[in-house]
Amino acid sequence: MTALVFLDSDFPAGRIADAATAQLSVLDQGVTRGDGIFESALYSRGVVRKLDAHLARMRVSASTCDLLIPHEEDWRTAIKTAVAAYDAESPSEEAVVKLVATRGTEGTGHGTSWVMVSPAPELGRKQRESGVSVIFLDRGYDSRVAERAPWLLMGAKTLSYAVNMAALRHARKLGADDVIFVSSDGIVLEGPTSTVLMAHRDGDTKRLITPTLETGILPGTTQGAIFAAAREAGWELGYGPLTPQDLLAAEGLWLVSSVRLLTPVNSIDGTAIARDAGLHAELTAMVDAIA
Ligand SMILES: Cc1ncc(COP(=O)(O)O)c(C=O)c1O
Repeated sequence: MTALVFLDSDFPAGRIADAATAQLSVLDQGVTRGDGIFESALYSRGVVRKLDAHLARMRVSASTCDLLIPHEEDWRTAIKTAVAAYDAESPSEEAVVKLVATRGTEGTGHGTSWVMVSPAPELGRKQRESGVSVIFLDRGYDSRVAERAPWLLMGAKTLSYAVNMAALRHARKLGADDVIFVSSDGIVLEGPTSTVLMAHRDGDTKRLITPTLETGILPGTTQGAIFAAAREAGWELGYGPLTPQDLLAAEGLWLVSSVRLLTPVNSIDGTAIARDAGLHAELTAMVDAIA
């Protein structure tokens, strides 16, 4: 079951709609141009995890895209309505709360915004346990493009995910589970739906490293929450630039995201990646504690 709630000024708590029937104009620019933004959060044990961080990132995405979106309080209200509707119908252990805001139907001057709650995909939950095989793929631009070309909307979570989905299909055709994008000048970027996280142990020192945001990657809310917890726990934190060779030499490598959480990388392009069980257990506990 999917619960669907539109943000609508005529409905203070949000307008509940039927996700199984047509709801959106074919003229909506979210549909015709992929012109809009979104967020995906995890709903588990009665809590939408990291909601503040998702709403904050959505504000930044909206500003990057010059998109007017509803106020934060309206999103919170609609989310509450959607989650209650979902729980009433099909309470499941984990669900995805998706927030979407498009530029709306051309000529109307106002956007379309909705909240959707649906069961979390089974595959992602399996991959947290099994880990994933990954391939490096060229993203087709260099690591300095964000500062040079702001119209590429780098760092915004836009609806235009066709390239990301195509990269995943490409990986699956080659027998792999997932992708790590590399820039044309050889710098590690991110996964199509995840942030790259790498760990090293050096005597008593534990170090966590993630690619630098200057490459134009999406600022991951999961990576942000893990870094905050790791800092508290005394880990050293670092930000790239990272090369593919750096990742191959890691003592632990993960793809992290809000719904799939902490997913270990087993191999890249067929080369096995080490997994320090102690580091993995510590990071898993940090992720479990994220509210
Ligand atoms: C391109 C990209 N990078 C990183 C992430 C991870 O972000 P978060 O941890 O906020 O889910 C996502 C999430 O979907 C993503 O699509």
